[in-house]
Amino acid sequence: MSLHIGSIAPDFEQDSTQGRIRFHEWLGSSWGVLFSHPKDFTPVCTTELGRAANLNEEFAKRNVKTIAVSVDDVPSHQRWIGDIEETQNCKLDYPILGDPDKKVAGLYDMIHPEANDTLSVRSVFFIDPNKKIRAMITYPASTGRNFAEILRVIDSLQLTDSHKVATPADWKQGDDVVIVPALQDAAEIEQRFPKGYRALKPYLRLTPQPNR
Ligand code: BEZ
Repeated sequence: MSLHIGSIAPDFEQDSTQGRIRFHEWLGSSWGVLFSHPKDFTPVCTTELGRAANLNEEFAKRNVKTIAVSVDDVPSHQRWIGDIEETQNCKLDYPILGDPDKKVAGLYDMIHPEANDTLSVRSVFFIDPNKKIRAMITYPASTGRNFAEILRVIDSLQLTDSHKVATPADWKQGDDVVIVPALQDAAEIEQRFPKGYRALKPYLRLTPQPNR
């Protein structure tokens, strides 16, 4: 079954560096970011896991739990964490799932055989508190992910869930946003966007970020 934006994130039970995890139960009422790694003891993955650990407070501020998965087993992950903490100057305090049976990789379609038969690609799944997949990104093994972008996507998802806006190209916290085209009622626009808006075109209406 292919996963889409809006699909329920597949549940699973798997060992991790922090013990057995039942995924949905572990997520609880938090947002989740599940990100995959091709293999343990590889250079790009080492930097990515360290970067995610160093952004721990940023994820927590946004009510996001991070969890990594790599197709190696938990004892291998435990040995690797020592290297990650040493070289990336971090404390790795989120779980890494063991996936030697490739259960999680299979459920989330993380192995792309045309790229590699056995190693997972670099997937990121953004999961909301209702366990829905809200965004996905996929990179090849050779390209490390941008964790500032991962935080930016969460900021956009959380903002656009609570206001009738969308975020334009390269948007970041504090930048102007666009009013969703479906919102046409003048009274509602005035009530929702008391700072006003600029209409560059009837469908392209920019307004200051409403929750700032
Ligand atoms: C890495 O994490 O550095 C890596 C993993 C698999 C293939 C290429 C690079």
